[in-house]
Amino acid sequence: MLIHERMAQLPPGVTELFASGRSPVLIVCHCHVVSDRAIRAEVEGGAATPDDVAERCGAGARCGSCRPTIVALLATSVLREHAQPAA
Ligand code: FES
Repeated sequence: MLIHERMAQLPPGVTELFASGRSPVLIVCHCHVVSDRAIRAEVEGGAATPDDVAERCGAGARCGSCRPTIVALLATSVLREHAQPAA
């Protein structure tokens, strides 16, 4: 499944909320009790795929129901990188 197809499965406004950086701390993965902040930290530390995130912190490694949200966090990180002006 492509990233935009997974992101389309999220409730309206979730991607924009993540992108804004103003979201409250959310438990994204309930199987392993991993927050959006912890997943963001793994992405900033080099995780580039949902499998990378699962390997580093366990999020998404069990039932997989949190994986669309992990994909959204990965995508917003990529969008943020590309939105920053070149140095
Ligand atoms: S909620 Fe994340 S693996 Fe189940």
